Amino acid sequence: MKKNTASDILQKKKSNQKITALSTYDYAFAKLADESGADIILVGDSVGMVQLGYNSTLPVTMDEMLHHTKAVSRAVKQALLVADMPYKTYETAVSSIKSARRFIEEAKANAVKLEGGEKVLKQVKALTRLGIAVMGHLGMLPQSIEKTGGYKVQGKDKKDADQMLKDAQALEAAGAFSIVLECVPYELAKKITQAVKIPTIGIGAGPHCDGQILVLHDLLGFKSTVSPRFVRKYADFDSLARKAIRDFRSDVEAEKFPSLKESFE
Ligand code: KIV
Repeated sequence: MKKNTASDILQKKKSNQKITALSTYDYAFAKLADESGADIILVGDSVGMVQLGYNSTLPVTMDEMLHHTKAVSRAVKQALLVADMPYKTYETAVSSIKSARRFIEEAKANAVKLEGGEKVLKQVKALTRLGIAVMGHLGMLPQSIEKTGGYKVQGKDKKDADQMLKDAQALEAAGAFSIVLECVPYELAKKITQAVKIPTIGIGAGPHCDGQILVLHDLLGFKSTVSPRFVRKYADFDSLARKAIRDFRSDVEAEKFPSLKESFE
């Protein structure tokens, strides 16, 4: 089985094939995503909200991201494994190289993602010059919510939309291999998708992006976080899990579990 590279992902856009990406954070879920054919697995810093119980992605540390990326990388045989650089770990070209190297050398990630456009170009150039594959991230940037005032759709007015298009073109010129577009009006996402040769991966950015990403927990219907409008739930594992746990509890209380068959002589 061949592992996807950043150029395989670029090739998908050239040959007009849509790209499927998922955010996962542990071995078991990453194995499910990989064996079900996801092109890209992102260890997103959304781990902070989905699995670590923080109320934003800002408290997520490098050590936490490395821990989760290592677990995911043990499962991923086929997808391109992208690690999200946490808040304040890529403020300069030097710190971005240091953080990205840790993800690649210690956690065996294939690429890194960082948030921002023209403001992080120095970092993107420094990384791509060293041959490190970089995924950009534009639109609603969870690491900037304190500046932008919350989780809001971005690029609604002309000035912001023009800046986002410039950011996307600048990321492409700096060597990024793809760009996540998060919470962007679909007309703008379409314009950006048509303006760049690298794939756009949308989340709340409409149907015209080259690919789509969802958090696997959201897609499966777990309710650990508030579910935004762009999430489509393909299953209701939350209800299934609650029922299974209630059934376990009542079996234990009624002394129906374990049976002798489930015990050792
Ligand atoms: O952290 C994350 O999971 C992400 C995706 C939702 C794009 O950044």
